[in-house]
Amino acid sequence: FFFNDTATPEIYTLSLLDALPISGRGSNMRSLIAAASAPGFPAKIALVIANVVSAEGLRFAAEAGIATKVISHKAYDSREEFDHAVNGALEAAGIEIVCLAGFMRILSDWFARRWEGRLLNIHPSLLPLFKGTHVHEQALQAGVRVSGCTVHFVVPELDAGPIIAQATVPVESDDTPETLATRILGEEHKLYPAALKMLAEGKVRLENGRAVFAR
Ligand code: GAR
Repeated sequence: FFFNDTATPEIYTLSLLDALPISGRGSNMRSLIAAASAPGFPAKIALVIANVVSAEGLRFAAEAGIATKVISHKAYDSREEFDHAVNGALEAAGIEIVCLAGFMRILSDWFARRWEGRLLNIHPSLLPLFKGTHVHEQALQAGVRVSGCTVHFVVPELDAGPIIAQATVPVESDDTPETLATRILGEEHKLYPAALKMLAEGKVRLENGRAVFAR
């Protein structure tokens, strides 16, 4: 395991932070918890952090026996202070890799650098197309015939980190943002655990700003 040399290399956290209604749902979190509970999965989900108490995913995680923590961004004056609080919780739990799952807040550059190479995000488009929000509206507006999802290393620039894995879906002529989102979400639930597994097994790493894949 290439990330560090501490005693417990198999500990992951899943950060579920929420600023839009959709991101409190936590379906990607659930898919990661399910995958990590399978025998032989090279990672353990050790902590789920949410920034809103109501995040539905929190209840699910707690029922799955995973430590949960609510850190409200409203309690902090600046993005950096909030991110330092999140970082403190991650360090206290001995976390080594952070997976953002429906995290709709922009992280500070400091946080992205602090976790460089160990911070993943999933985004519901084929990056570098359609960054930011209203992703499916953007795809339909552009008239693309395929869309999909991307798991990438997080870097300070929004939705711009080196790509680890992508999956595609067709865009149907009668798609609405909702039907397209649902089709893509089905792929997200397979892609994120697969990307995490690659990282945990040392099959991908971030080097000089690029994703490097082991043969
Ligand atoms: C997912 O579709 C994820 O790709 C997206 O939010 C949704 C969260 O759903 N993330 C972003 O748009 C990040 N820019 P979930 O809470 O059910 O996992």
